[in-house]
Amino acid sequence: MKILILGADGRAHAFCWKIHQSKLCTQLFIAPGNAGTAQFGENIDIAVTDFDSIKKLCIDKKIDLVVVGPEEPLVKGIYDFFKNDKQINHIIITGPSASGARLEGSKAFAKAFMQRHHIPTAQYEEFDTASYEDGLEYIKNHPMPIVLKADGLAAGKGVIICNNTVEALGEYEWMIQKSKFGDAGKKVVVEQFLSGIELSVFVLTNGDAYTLFPEAKDYKKIFEGDEGPNTGGMGAISPVPFASEIFLEKVIKKIIEPTIKGLHEEKIDYKGFIFFGLIKVDDEPHVIEYNCRMGDPETEVVLLRLKNDLVELLIAMEENKLHKEKIIIDEKVAATIVAVSEGYPAAYEKGFPIDFGYLENTEAIKHIDSNGGVMVFHAGTKQQGDDVVTNGGRVLAVSSLADSLAEAIELSKEILNQIHFEGMYYRKDIGYEFIE
Ligand code: AMP
Ligand code: GLY
Repeated sequence: MKILILGADGRAHAFCWKIHQSKLCTQLFIAPGNAGTAQFGENIDIAVTDFDSIKKLCIDKKIDLVVVGPEEPLVKGIYDFFKNDKQINHIIITGPSASGARLEGSKAFAKAFMQRHHIPTAQYEEFDTASYEDGLEYIKNHPMPIVLKADGLAAGKGVIICNNTVEALGEYEWMIQKSKFGDAGKKVVVEQFLSGIELSVFVLTNGDAYTLFPEAKDYKKIFEGDEGPNTGGMGAISPVPFASEIFLEKVIKKIIEPTIKGLHEEKIDYKGFIFFGLIKVDDEPHVIEYNCRMGDPETEVVLLRLKNDLVELLIAMEENKLHKEKIIIDEKVAATIVAVSEGYPAAYEKGFPIDFGYLENTEAIKHIDSNGGVMVFHAGTKQQGDDVVTNGGRVLAVSSLADSLAEAIELSKEILNQIHFEGMYYRKDIGYEFIE
């Protein structure tokens, strides 16, 4: 099969690494890709939201399967674009439809969906320009802390946790009246603050059956000890030590199954991944958010532990045969540590050459086999002449598979010690709360 992966991040590189191993994959293309994805296929310089150019590429290269990495094309309807066009509607594409992508693209839709299907989540109300005054009253009478969420996509920045009423009223006004997040924040979900520990669970579904992938925990804060502003993710681990079998059983019964059943009942076309962002409060799982795609950097640990052929699973999804698939998960532990540019998640410079030490430049990979190993997944990188240079906030995700979390972390750090670029920073404490 000829396969196209959309994305330019660590997740895209991890998809390439995994799909390249499939006996069904004959040729791999990545749009737009990075210096790492070029190790496994041909990068094509097309933006993930340029649907017309993607269509042309699919026809020219006779693509059979498209794997969509990030949320933006899904929310903008790439799945529907393919399915409604006779020239390309035979191609398998990981969805969901735009309707299903509202689980991520509209916080208000996701909250109302959870309410309709009795899925545990924080209590909330939604407000917009018309109900602005009601929102002020609601916030004044609500215990603190309180959480404000811009309804639409806001590049991961649309959630604000406020510790006092004055701050909450100020942020609320800024979001609705002064368009802090543009149109994405014209509607605001005002939500109860939940206190607990977070983890993420992933499924591949055809909107009816599903397969459960390994769970993961990511580290969102920029600084060690979980301090400082949120980022896209500074590292991740899988499995999650506190996700016991009993707890995961609750996640399945109270969250995953009602979600899939809800999509089915509401006739929402959903063939793709669902990422459940969860919080464990007194042993009970609650949904913090849904995403309509895999996580980044969670994919860089989840796929390391997935032993199945991912292409076979995607075909089973397309053919509504997922219920026949058995997921095989490696018992070993995966960890990834993300190396970022100085200044991230605020402004940063790009274009610094990356020195991979004893690892060869584009061969900056070690093998992962049944005994474990390390993969240097590229995130924000690009090839510039003979150099690989930094090209984003998150630059590399160094992912290891080993017998224990401590060993996996040590392996990633050993490799990171070899790598250097100007302003490089990474958290040395990923997984800290689970290592003695
Ligand atoms: P999101 O963009 O929805 O992933 O939210 C970003 C982060 O905000 C989450 O990972 C949580 O750490 C935090 N958060 C969101 N909603 C709540 C909530 N209701 N209670 C506590 N923390 C929350
Ligand atoms: N790491 C969080 C996300 O992918 O949304």
